[in-house]
Amino acid sequence: MERVLTGITGFDEMLTGGLPESRISLLCGGPGSGKTIFSLQYIMSAIDRGEPCVYVSLEESFKDKVENAYEFSWDIPKAIEDNLMGVLDICMIPQSKGYVEPFERTRGKLELGIVKEIEDLADSIKAKHIVIDPLTSIVIHEVRSGRKRYLIGQIFDSIRRKKCSGVITSEGLPSRNDFYMEQFLADGVIFLEKRITDFKLVKTLRVDKMRGISFDEQPRRYLITNRGFSVFNKEPVIT
Ligand SMILES: Nc1ncnc2c1ncn2[C@@H]1O[C@H](COP(=O)(O)OP(=O)(O)O)[C@@H](O)[C@H]1O
Ligand SMILES: [Mg+2]
Repeated sequence: MERVLTGITGFDEMLTGGLPESRISLLCGGPGSGKTIFSLQYIMSAIDRGEPCVYVSLEESFKDKVENAYEFSWDIPKAIEDNLMGVLDICMIPQSKGYVEPFERTRGKLELGIVKEIEDLADSIKAKHIVIDPLTSIVIHEVRSGRKRYLIGQIFDSIRRKKCSGVITSEGLPSRNDFYMEQFLADGVIFLEKRITDFKLVKTLRVDKMRGISFDEQPRRYLITNRGFSVFNKEPVIT
């Protein structure tokens, strides 16, 4: 299996050489766990190798993400200018009745519209990677689980059709009551977890599944600094 280096210190080692190429990896975590930073670091690493990336930005303002990225010395405007990064900035605004609509978009078939736009953008820059941050915003309005699964399937299929490697973020962690179907549909699942033990915060990354490769199954501590996201892949988590 061909691999894709994520550029995240310690994490590529956990995966014995990176994520499987042309597969879909889901990164799940709560608010502030580092999903956006992780996904942008993945993109910047691919761009350093000259591999174009599509970035579908939801929920947070893309402008803020660009500004925050400078903290890590990631120049997103330059990547866009160099045609190495294609951005689909979809600002979802919550409406009443738990319904979510894309900002300034009134087309009837919201979900199919997004899939087509992702594909067109991927074609225009000859993308090798597609990152969606977060997937949750696209599917949250769909209450019928069958439709939700269909919608997630459509998005994942389009990434596979384009033969791209996908990194998709997802909000929240599995709980006993919820059925997280994106985790079943993805080829790989990574969890970012936070736990308080003895009044100390312990942040860990754990690879839950990764079809087709062998990997380190143990949770490992991770750290975010102005050099980005890194994983202590050798040290055991001592709490
Ligand atoms: N320059 C920085 N130095 C250290 N930690 C930072 C820096 N910028 C952000 N962080 C950490 O990253 C977190 C936000 O990461 P982010 O990727 O936006 O999370 P998510 O997308 O999962 O909500 C912050 O809560 C903070 O702990
Ligand atoms: Mg985020």
